[in-house]
Amino acid sequence: MGKFDGKVAVITGGARGQGRSHAVALAREGCRVALWDIANDATTNPPYRMASRDDLDETVRLVKDVGGEALPVTVDVRDSAQVRAGVSETLDRFGAINYLVAQQGAMPLTREVWNTDEEHWNDIIAVNLTGTFLTVKYVVPEIIKAGRGGAIVLTSSTAGLMTFPWLTSYGAAKHGVIGLGKGLANELGPYGIRVNMICPGAVDSPMVDSFAEANGLTRADMFSQFDGMDLLGAGLVKPEESTTPAVVYLLSSDAMWVTGHTLIVDAGAMIKPNAGNVAS
Ligand SMILES: NC(=O)c1ccc[n+]([C@@H]2O[C@H](COP(=O)([O-])OP(=O)(O)OC[C@H]3O[C@@H](n4cnc5c(N)ncnc54)[C@H](O)[C@@H]3O)[C@@H](O)[C@H]2O)c1
Repeated sequence: MGKFDGKVAVITGGARGQGRSHAVALAREGCRVALWDIANDATTNPPYRMASRDDLDETVRLVKDVGGEALPVTVDVRDSAQVRAGVSETLDRFGAINYLVAQQGAMPLTREVWNTDEEHWNDIIAVNLTGTFLTVKYVVPEIIKAGRGGAIVLTSSTAGLMTFPWLTSYGAAKHGVIGLGKGLANELGPYGIRVNMICPGAVDSPMVDSFAEANGLTRADMFSQFDGMDLLGAGLVKPEESTTPAVVYLLSSDAMWVTGHTLIVDAGAMIKPNAGNVAS
């Protein structure tokens, strides 16, 4: 018996990275997964490199490998018509939606606020925040129809709780995701549907490579930036051992009385004093 036998989850940004890891873990627990991703063959959403169709197909294959069933759906969550089409396609195949893991995202160029192009600001807000709103707007009525016990996880970031200067568009969007989730948790409480947020710290995913590429850094530069940042010596962690178990827990009945919560998965980085270990 899996934790999610007979259930259906929509995972946005499901083609690769953390979304892929969540998809495989949910499938292992009996959940059928609709993998929504822009998957536009590595065209860029300036300056961010998106997942490709091959990435999406590879995740479908990995889900099958664990005995699961995955539906690949090409959706740009910034576009309401595409989101509505994604809902229809998911219902045509699976008949219902019980869970949503809204976790698509993109990092910005490093810039001061006053040097951030308006177009770039709008795009980062659209991908990280408005896309989450649109997904919620059109998926939630289906989760309500499926009945009590549904659950939603929205992916924010430690940048949704603290300051990351020069990434302020991203931070503003990720703060917004937490606000969106808290309001939604209130609105969905009477329906017996839970809404929680996760805030990853540093996770090894293609986002890190894409960010490095966009900002002229090597992967080694990126890794070294995370050295000593957390309390456990974790550095860049694998999603399978960090955010994925958090998502599985928050969707499962183990978390049946947990809603409106923001779960930080950062190996303690946020509470580490900037000055380092003052006792040594
Ligand atoms: N990797 C980290 O260190 C880190 C830290 C904190 C938060 N996060 C957040 O975790 C989430 C998952 O990121 P990841 O680390 O797996 O990176 P990733 O780049 O591998 O995954 C993001 C996915 O979102 C998809 N996507 C982007 N724009 C989209 C759009 N408009 N419509 C549909 N899909 C779109 C991409 O194609 C990609 O598959 C993101 O919300 C990210 O902001 C990541």
